[in-house]
Amino acid sequence: MNQEQAPRRGRDGFEDLPPATAPGTVLALLLASLGGVLVALVLLPRWLPDLSASLSGPQAHGYWFLARASAWVAFGLLWLSLVMGLLITNRLARLWPGGPTAFDLHQHASLLALAFALFHALILLGDRYIGYSPATLLLPFASHDYRPISVGLGQLGFYALALVGLSFYVRRLIGRRLWRAIHFLSFAVFVLVLAHGLGSGTDSGTVWARGVYWASGASVLFLTWFRVLVSRSGRAAPPASQGAPSPECSP
Ligand code: HEM
Repeated sequence: MNQEQAPRRGRDGFEDLPPATAPGTVLALLLASLGGVLVALVLLPRWLPDLSASLSGPQAHGYWFLARASAWVAFGLLWLSLVMGLLITNRLARLWPGGPTAFDLHQHASLLALAFALFHALILLGDRYIGYSPATLLLPFASHDYRPISVGLGQLGFYALALVGLSFYVRRLIGRRLWRAIHFLSFAVFVLVLAHGLGSGTDSGTVWARGVYWASGASVLFLTWFRVLVSRSGRAAPPASQGAPSPECSP
């Protein structure tokens, strides 16, 4: 760099350098700081009593609400993962959302479902009404005081989901055949969790929850039926079409 191109420097060498932070970022920082003050001065004093009552008072429902909210997120993610897997194998993913995107969604949604399901189960330890111990929570069908059968189905579903989700990481180690066998468990996980939600959930009595269970069950059933059709027609097709790549990421 010649002397004309070099930035002009003052005596200490830094006077003419541009500011390290853009003006928009500085403004955002100052606004965030004002927002923090507003929350601390105005909102927290109003919210904290209710918040602590909902987590530790005699009418504490906070952990129960958290368990139910995370249950629905886990269920939605599980459904998404299964649908993406089926879209890959029945080749509809080529139309939408594209093979690689469907594969990423399939894998990430199943791991996220596992994380939300773990939260859903463990947070129940804080719910005084259900009164779970770590043993009743983790042992299938040990929830003696609250719907042991349907909660047990959820517990089995959780362990199967963990097996399926984590099997992505040992695929090379265990070989394709065993991996595929484990992966087929995804259907069982969905059925177990559907029965679990229907049988043990407080929301099961509501129209919207039943609608969600019906719609998710029907969509999985339809895509599975379509997948069977595609694989049958693939088998019956002449050799030229048998060369089409066969997706391996889903049962
Ligand atoms: C150790 C495993 C599990 C335990 C102990 C467990 C426990 C429970 C309990 C006690 C309820 C009833 C909550 C209530 O409404 O009062 C429930 C509901 C529910 N669980 Fe689980 N569950 C487990 C695994 C799962 C998994 C793996 C999923 C989904 C991926 C799931 C999804 C749901 C759904 C959707 C509901 C209905 C929520 C509602 O209607 O408000 N659960 N679970």
